Amino acid sequence: MEKPTIILGIESSCDDTSASVLANNVLLSNVIASQSVHNDYGGVVPELASRAHQQNIIPVVDAAIKNAGVDKSDISAVAFTLGPGLLGSLLVGTSFAKSFATALGIPLIDINHLQAHILSHFIEEQGESKELPSFPFLCLLVSGGNSQIVLVKDYFDMEIVGQTIDDAAGEAFDKCAKVMGLPYPGGPHIDKLSQRGNPSAFKFAKPNIKGLDYSFSGLKTSFLYFLRDKLKEDGQFIENNKCDLSASLQKTIIDILTKKLILASKIYKINTIALAGGVSANNGLRNEIFALGKQLGWKVFVPKPSFTTDNAAMVAVAGYYKYLNGQYCDIVKTPFARTII
Ligand code: KG4
Repeated sequence: MEKPTIILGIESSCDDTSASVLANNVLLSNVIASQSVHNDYGGVVPELASRAHQQNIIPVVDAAIKNAGVDKSDISAVAFTLGPGLLGSLLVGTSFAKSFATALGIPLIDINHLQAHILSHFIEEQGESKELPSFPFLCLLVSGGNSQIVLVKDYFDMEIVGQTIDDAAGEAFDKCAKVMGLPYPGGPHIDKLSQRGNPSAFKFAKPNIKGLDYSFSGLKTSFLYFLRDKLKEDGQFIENNKCDLSASLQKTIIDILTKKLILASKIYKINTIALAGGVSANNGLRNEIFALGKQLGWKVFVPKPSFTTDNAAMVAVAGYYKYLNGQYCDIVKTPFARTII
């Protein structure tokens, strides 16, 4: 049997230090060290994030290689997130990847974090045989920093056909959760509370933006003003209604997201639909996409929850497909904070 390509993936774009080893596109290990140092600040503190990456990177890579049961000398290439993300955080993963690849004399492969989220659909697990999305497909990429509809024509041929003109969907979850006094990041808390709430209890403003673009800043303001008025009448309003508030907010965000996705599917005549990014862990969104899939005849691909948040397995799988194309990167390449796909 032909020896598999072994890819070491490294992800350090925000506040998760992660390393993963894949044999071709099959997962051997995926280690993630999340940073609790930000919990007291209500958001990620960039300087603290890069310091924590420095502490975590060596033990995380070491654990990923050991868990995979491979030797350093087996590794064919190192794939790492070049951007977008926090520059200080990206520098840690980038510098480590460069040194590691140089020391082993193997190729270095730079990965776009957003493309990696989308390509997470191509990760297979050992003993699993799953259907992979076929090109072209539409991917709703929703995270703390992005809300985009991406037309995926091939592994590295992607076009953003719609995107937020202000806040991202994850930001809307997190900022509204903060107004409700929930811890950061608020998205998972809203998701949990929603399960016991009535999604039709309250109505919040929905944007009226042309085409496939999104806007979430109006919703945030509408939510804030609604609570401010209600709190004047009842100081306990949030506490007494937190499940209904969460469910109504979550439904509004899902309606906004799916309306444009349905439109995109009609415009591009594409019925293969995928979700990706941190917000794709949301149970309400996942259920709604499956329901729409049944109703509209979509073939739906939803990532495993462990591949929705930042992880190096998605970086490694993107690296594997670049490796097959011989798309290596020069050692002088430097990280970037913002980008389009
Ligand atoms: O992709 P991600 O891990 O980080 C980047 O932005 O790169 O996404 C994080 C976002 C946060 O806004 C978080 O609140 C949101 O994903 N999130 C969720 C859920 N899990 C994570 N939002 C709603 N429901 C969830 N279950």
